[in-house]
Amino acid sequence: MEQKVEELRLKFEKEIAATSTAAGVNDLKISYLGKKGPVQQLMRYLKDVPPEKRPEMGQSINNLKVHLTEKCENALNRFIEEEEGARLAEEFVDVTLPGRRHYMGREHIITKEMNKVIDVLISMGFTVQYGPDIETDYYNFEALNFHEDHPARDMQDTFYIAPDMLLRTHTSNVQVRVMESSAPPIRIISPGKCYRNESITARSHVFFHQVEALYIDEGVTFADLLYSLNEFLEKFFGRKLETRFRPSYFPFVEPGVEVDVLCLLCEGRGCPVCKKTGWLEILGAGMVHPEVLKNGGIDSEKYTGYAWGLGCDRLAMIMNGVDDIRAFTENDIRFLEQFA
Ligand code: PHE
Repeated sequence: MEQKVEELRLKFEKEIAATSTAAGVNDLKISYLGKKGPVQQLMRYLKDVPPEKRPEMGQSINNLKVHLTEKCENALNRFIEEEEGARLAEEFVDVTLPGRRHYMGREHIITKEMNKVIDVLISMGFTVQYGPDIETDYYNFEALNFHEDHPARDMQDTFYIAPDMLLRTHTSNVQVRVMESSAPPIRIISPGKCYRNESITARSHVFFHQVEALYIDEGVTFADLLYSLNEFLEKFFGRKLETRFRPSYFPFVEPGVEVDVLCLLCEGRGCPVCKKTGWLEILGAGMVHPEVLKNGGIDSEKYTGYAWGLGCDRLAMIMNGVDDIRAFTENDIRFLEQFA
């Protein structure tokens, strides 16, 4: 019996020395000191020991029990401490590290300028009506007086999707759509993307943005066009700007004009942005052609109207001193961030 106690002690010493986790020690403790464990078993054998030897043996088993319990407790405390230390080390936060930068999404500079245009025009009484980017030849050209083989079709190199389907070359495609769906007075603007099959350079791209304005009512004259344009430009730029109206040709207006503003950057002295002319061309305009009114089902004897189309990319370039239109769509964060 004495020998059994010693053997058990040695076996335990070996096993606990080989244990390296708190969970392992716990298992060991249960396997040795639990109800079905060897220590309890020894206790049960005690009754077979001769009575005179029993107290001594009892003492011996009890000593083993105390020893095992103590050793387990010590090992357990040590491992718990170690494991906690390791956990803390793993969770260690270096508060001296520089913070990580979060990038905020924001409106693109073109969207921002376009929204500014829209806000000004809404304040002048226009309402917004969107048209489709993918358009029929009819609304983009035919209804606007560009007949088949009309040389003016060459003015706008077009991306065709099908013989009769194209990417709109201008926001003027909304004109006849709006006339068909509403009766005068019509006072709408239509912002959106336009597409032209042109070579991409610093000044032109295959897609760009326009805001179309259309006003049709009884007695609308060219003076109304001039007035509303000047009013818009003054509100948009926040000051009176010198403008220049040059006669121009668009099949869907008569008369037609192109409008330049005095170059904001050089005040007319001439600089690279205005190509040394002192003027910046920003929109096309004119009185709605009677043929176009007719196509829209509007009595051209009774009603007249004006229309204009403003190039937003050019505007964003002027307003922000950007000299290459391609920068807007290259998505270089360093460029875009400047307009936060
Ligand atoms: N749609 C013309 C263009 O893109 C601009 C324009 C609009 C001209 C309205 C006159 C009237 O060039």
